[in-house]
Amino acid sequence: MKLTHDSIERNIGLLIVLTVLVVSVGGLLEIVPLFFQKSTTTPVDGLKPYDAVRLTGRDVYIREGCYLCHSQMVRPFRAETERYGHYSVAGEFVYDHPFQWGSKRTGPDLARVGGRYSDEWHRAHLINPRDVVPESNMPSFSWLAKTPADAASAPDKMRALRKVGVPYTDEQIAGAAKEVEGKTELDALVAYLQGLGVELKGVK
Ligand code: HEC
Repeated sequence: MKLTHDSIERNIGLLIVLTVLVVSVGGLLEIVPLFFQKSTTTPVDGLKPYDAVRLTGRDVYIREGCYLCHSQMVRPFRAETERYGHYSVAGEFVYDHPFQWGSKRTGPDLARVGGRYSDEWHRAHLINPRDVVPESNMPSFSWLAKTPADAASAPDKMRALRKVGVPYTDEQIAGAAKEVEGKTELDALVAYLQGLGVELKGVK
């Protein structure tokens, strides 16, 4: 059989195999270099791995599905940078496993929410959003204030992240449970939010 466009299109099995081959090679050529490019693998100045409390808060964020209404990705458009600040760069996310970029914006982007409000504002807002933003349709997460944060699993989470390249030290892991002990899930979540995107704050 001669391999012509016509014969490939008439042979569905061959067409599938060749399509998969082309898409795979194209995908690899696009994706693999990113693993080795400095701008995508080097943390931005000042970026530190999440401490135990923020890491616990991040897991509350994931569990509660905050990402279903909030993105964490400022796109490089003027309307976005004027509202949120510097657009997001890959180096801000090197310790995020999994990243929380999201795509749905029922609420505002949170990539640079760190430091925008006080801790008290966040606590009031999460317990009942309508207390601080009367027109808000964000759900209330009041139980977080009454639920103790999961201290026991903090060291294991850090060990798992270390396996994928987050540079936690043995001391950090050893002290993790103690740091989280006595905190509520709300404390942890607010700590997580307050650190988001602060490395590029004020950078034009
Ligand atoms: C059903 C959609 C929805 C969910 C789920 C949701 N939010 Fe929101 N969020 C909103 C909306 C809408 C606003 C804008 C009104 C307001 O400020 O309350 C908002 C605002 C915010 C703000 C203020 C942002 C700013 O720049 O003013 C923060 C912080 C926030 N949400 C955090 C969270 C966290 C943390 C969770 C998960 C525990 C969460 N949200 C879950 C819809 C949602």
